[in-house]
Amino acid sequence: MAIINQIDKTKLPKHVAIIMDGNGRWAKQQGKNRVFGHRQGAKSVKEIVQAAGELGIDYLTLYAFSTENWNRPKLEVDALMALLISSINKETKELIQNNVRLLSIGNHAILPKNVRNKLYEAIEQTKNNTGLTLVLALSYSARWEIIEAAKKVAQLAVNQKISIEDIDEEMINQNLATATIPDPELMIRTSGEFRISNFLLWQLAYSELYFTDKLWPEFGKKEFFEALLDYQSRERRFGKTSEQLEQNI
Ligand code: FPP
Repeated sequence: MAIINQIDKTKLPKHVAIIMDGNGRWAKQQGKNRVFGHRQGAKSVKEIVQAAGELGIDYLTLYAFSTENWNRPKLEVDALMALLISSINKETKELIQNNVRLLSIGNHAILPKNVRNKLYEAIEQTKNNTGLTLVLALSYSARWEIIEAAKKVAQLAVNQKISIEDIDEEMINQNLATATIPDPELMIRTSGEFRISNFLLWQLAYSELYFTDKLWPEFGKKEFFEALLDYQSRERRFGKTSEQLEQNI
């Protein structure tokens, strides 16, 4: 049976988050430069966005550029920013046709102005779409996000809008960049690395983690479906016993 038909469409994760890793190593294997790897990585992005939309997944968050990535050589950072702009330019029309809504989380203040403008333009153009929500984590790090949430909550307390006792999980959730987005049930990382790398630290608390040796440019629909099948073979207990889950208590 084709792998897509083995997936139980009634038990899909609502939100899948992906650390797209291994573009550089893939390029090196091909005897090419790192930018070539990122370009190929953008093709995988397109394939996985299509697959997620077709399956009916609600949210797909992709770690496209971390806060730490600013430390890469200027040439590579510039090439990644140029790739972002050209991808948004090329793909926005198709996002609209496929009913995909674009969002982004991250410290956008430090993005080059042309990238920020392009990004916000595409977000605006797709804001009424009701299919897949594609969340690009751009200039993102989870510790940055948590610090920002702490500042916002502290400001509410300073302004006497809340008391310290009011601070709970929900209030932190509401002040994260992902306030309107449910937590991911599944997080995928490619390229054989077993790390979270400052990605969605709060939101991944109960997520299933899936690691694959495939490098990101090699990660296509088949590999995505395999990850979903693996996810569906797991039992999610949230600290409960199997018996409690069976009896729905
Ligand atoms: C990690 O590979 C990948 C990135 C830092 C950037 C991700 C960017 C893309 C997939 C391309 C464009 C994105 C969009 C949304 C159009 P790496 O460079 O860390 O690989 P390495 O660990 O093998 O060096």
